[in-house]
Amino acid sequence: MKLLVCAILAYLIGSFPTAYIVGKVFFHKNIFQYGSGNVGTTNAYRVFGPFAGTVVLIFDILKGTLGALMPVFFGLDRHWILFIGIFAVVGHVFSIFLKFRGGKAVATSAGILLAYNPLLFTLCFIFLALIVYLTSMVSVASLTTVLLFTIASLFMHDWILTAAAVIVTIIVFVRHIPNIKRLLKGKENLVPIGLAYKR
Ligand code: G3P
Repeated sequence: MKLLVCAILAYLIGSFPTAYIVGKVFFHKNIFQYGSGNVGTTNAYRVFGPFAGTVVLIFDILKGTLGALMPVFFGLDRHWILFIGIFAVVGHVFSIFLKFRGGKAVATSAGILLAYNPLLFTLCFIFLALIVYLTSMVSVASLTTVLLFTIASLFMHDWILTAAAVIVTIIVFVRHIPNIKRLLKGKENLVPIGLAYKR
């Protein structure tokens, strides 16, 4: 029963549509209609600028962290963090507040990792930032970082972590299918950061 309550709360927390609300409230724009049309950090950065992008990033990470920590608040074993955290990711991707539309799962998944293993979160975050700096493409950074996360989990012999990493990697890859198609055509959108972006 406690697990069910945790899962529902995590889903609702994950459903909070940060980028959509930031766009509507502060810029009077529907983020679905701008840039890549994605309701996430990268598109908020692209469309509304660095400050808005950073706010969305922080809130979307914290959604994953808060959702994932529900089992701890309810006195359950901390290994449930990963399982329940996935519900926050599902909420972010299929938000009840956006008619079951949503983002691409990266920041909220990172939030679960922050709750479970802050060191691995930090390493993945540094890797992601490096790839963004080198390519100016957050999609490339997102896809390679989830793969790194899965590979790193194998070396840690924590099979629950590996299972969560595989699930997150599948969700992130499926949500990035339009990005992967653009990458294969050499037409992926850049973000105005890093070496590859020509000002
Ligand atoms: O996390 C989303 C990012 O990897 C890609 O975002 O807006 O370029 O599709 P976007």
